[in-house]
Amino acid sequence: MVLLTIFVIFVCIFYASQFIWLIFSDCDLALQWNMKFGKQMGVLNGRVVWITGASSGIGESLAMELAGAGCKLVLSARRRDELERVKHQCVESGRVSPDDVLVVPLDLLDFESHPHAVMCVLQYYSQIDILVNNAGRGQRAAWEETSLEVDRHCLELNVLGHLSLTKSVLPHMMNRGEGHIVVTCGIEGKVGAPYSAAYSGAKHALQGWFECLRAEMYSHNIRVGVMCPGPVFSGLLENAFTGSIANHYGVKMDMNERRMEAIRCARLMSFAIANEMDEVWIARQPVLFLMYFCQYFPSFGNWLVCQFGKKIMLTVRNGARV
Ligand SMILES: NC(=O)c1ccc[n+]([C@@H]2O[C@H](COP(=O)([O-])OP(=O)(O)OC[C@H]3O[C@@H](n4cnc5c(N)ncnc54)[C@H](OP(=O)(O)O)[C@@H]3O)[C@@H](O)[C@H]2O)c1
Repeated sequence: MVLLTIFVIFVCIFYASQFIWLIFSDCDLALQWNMKFGKQMGVLNGRVVWITGASSGIGESLAMELAGAGCKLVLSARRRDELERVKHQCVESGRVSPDDVLVVPLDLLDFESHPHAVMCVLQYYSQIDILVNNAGRGQRAAWEETSLEVDRHCLELNVLGHLSLTKSVLPHMMNRGEGHIVVTCGIEGKVGAPYSAAYSGAKHALQGWFECLRAEMYSHNIRVGVMCPGPVFSGLLENAFTGSIANHYGVKMDMNERRMEAIRCARLMSFAIANEMDEVWIARQPVLFLMYFCQYFPSFGNWLVCQFGKKIMLTVRNGARV
């Protein structure tokens, strides 16, 4: 009886300490544990990492972080000049030499060009250890005002583009018998976000597609990691689709918003990559709590979203304080 009481007290103290840790955390507890007790970034030294969407925001910061860890980089996006700028930044930081950063301009929507891009990377480095599918474009409009054309474009860029590039890289990884595929999904892939249906739907699809890939590739020694950031400062809002294909959202993020810095998000993602984590949630409060609620109490989460959703979700997703 005494032993049982001690055990129960120990469990209560453990859970209370985890809860307090979570209150002050900007990522899920599994990632926190790995940052303290897991592999450090040094394990990535010398790895060849291909990052898409590397010309700005999270991808740019990730390039800087991984350069700091001694990775050899491949930077892809459409804007060559911006990629060259990011390369210059990585080299300037003194962490990598120019030969260790390869710029490969790539349009994710140009599916036919993907096998050729893979060939170029393999000719240069002869291997790809980690592919980070990070490029993407947001979307802002009411559900009924979003044209089917926008829905289709959002799916093509945010889902099919990643599938196409991943399918082009996979045979190489399967032949080698190792590899690591990472995809930047987001809170919108876990919780339907009002006024971002096309983007949210695409991120949910991405989550499903890469979860299946994880299960199928496990026996090939290929790991799959899904990164789920909450609001982060970047160019995402400015370049977002609206309801009509002709318009960009065009609104710059306000630096007073309650968003995470891209460099912090990139650091947390780098730890998740070093520890080959399956899925991580990266967000400041109260978004992190919202993710826990929706995952572990879905009925309550749905009720909350339906009752207060539109207003609260918009405020939270916009990064402002609730
Ligand atoms: N910021 C957030 O709050 C947030 C939250 C959760 C998840 N995410 C996800 O994080 C990822 C990175 O976004 P970000 O926030 O860093 O936004 P960002 O600054 O706008 O970066 C988007 C990147 O995607 C590239 N891109 C866009 N269209 C492309 C195309 N057709 N082909 C190739 N590259 C293309 C852009 O480069 P080019 O224009 O040069 O092609 C840019 O490098 C996205 O998948 C986004 O959904 C962001």
